[in-house]
Amino acid sequence: MRVLTGIQPTNFLHIGNLFGALRPAIDLQRENDLFMMIADYHAITAEHDPVKLHDNILFTAASYIAAGIDPTKTVLFQQSQIPAHTELGWVLQTVARMGEAKRMTQFKDKSGSNEDKVSVGLFTYPTLMAADILLYDAESVPVGDDQKQHIEFTRDLAQRFNRDFGDTFVVPEPMIRKHGARLKSLTEPEKKMSKSAPSAKSYISLTDDPDIIAKKVRSATTDSEPGMTFSKDRPGLHNLLTILSLIEDAPGDELASRYDGMGTKALKDDLTERLVEHLRPISKEAQNLVDNKDELIRVIANGTAAAAKVANAKIAEVRERIGVAL
Ligand code: AMP
Ligand code: TRP
Repeated sequence: MRVLTGIQPTNFLHIGNLFGALRPAIDLQRENDLFMMIADYHAITAEHDPVKLHDNILFTAASYIAAGIDPTKTVLFQQSQIPAHTELGWVLQTVARMGEAKRMTQFKDKSGSNEDKVSVGLFTYPTLMAADILLYDAESVPVGDDQKQHIEFTRDLAQRFNRDFGDTFVVPEPMIRKHGARLKSLTEPEKKMSKSAPSAKSYISLTDDPDIIAKKVRSATTDSEPGMTFSKDRPGLHNLLTILSLIEDAPGDELASRYDGMGTKALKDDLTERLVEHLRPISKEAQNLVDNKDELIRVIANGTAAAAKVANAKIAEVRERIGVAL
């Protein structure tokens, strides 16, 4: 099966990206044909610092590899270097309808009361994402819960294009895990954990050192109800138990009964220790890879060349279908 996913190189990856998208992709790597993209043209839809973006592209690629992406098996590539993405993104803007684009909840969340001030790119971003997926005939797209609507939009665009211009695109399915597809903010557990959150205390980045992890977990919001239960009605606690359950591969309710009686402090202490152990080898390896920058750039360029072959064939077919190829 052809599988594709991508992460925006905005800041460092956090554990939501790791458990929501990266791990599920890595788990599919052995038996599938995986395309793993650095979504750098998505990262410029909000204000950005070019120097930081440059570093984060490298760090994102390094994090993929450090977490388990094997660039000899998987096509690891950089979106911006393949013009077919922006080209198909344009074509799909003409296929998409204003009404459906306006319904995207991520745009509404990200623009908030500032709708007139955000970039047009933030609004058209889902058509670029649809292009990312459709160029590669991806059948399955492992993502966190927040991207589900964008995949449904992609499916609608693919079906409409196929109907109007002939069978061209594979209609992809989202692959969303039951647990870990929406890790919550540590400080405001009703919201999702996000890289662009105003406070860095709300997320744990793959590069946080042990002291920072300890501080963030210690100050994570929980509730004052007695006893421990694994329930969405207790979002802070539910989130901490979910993170531990992802690391330990144990059900959340089993962990709740293990820590019931021991209390929240014991849970937070153990979670800190397990997170530190879990993230240390990944961040260490990512740093090593970034330190060997030339080699890392070579790996990305190789993957990008392989991806470009697939994308260029598809965009040529699209040009034929819509009548612009002479
Ligand atoms: P982004 O950081 O927005 O580029 O997201 C990259 C991938 O990580 C997407 O598949 C997201 O759905 C996933 N993701 C982002 N935030 C979370 C979260 N809090 N919990 C689970 N998955 C997430
Ligand atoms: N929009 C996605 C996010 O913010 C990242 C992304 C871009 C993506 N292109 C993609 C994810 C294609 C899956 C497939 O999370």
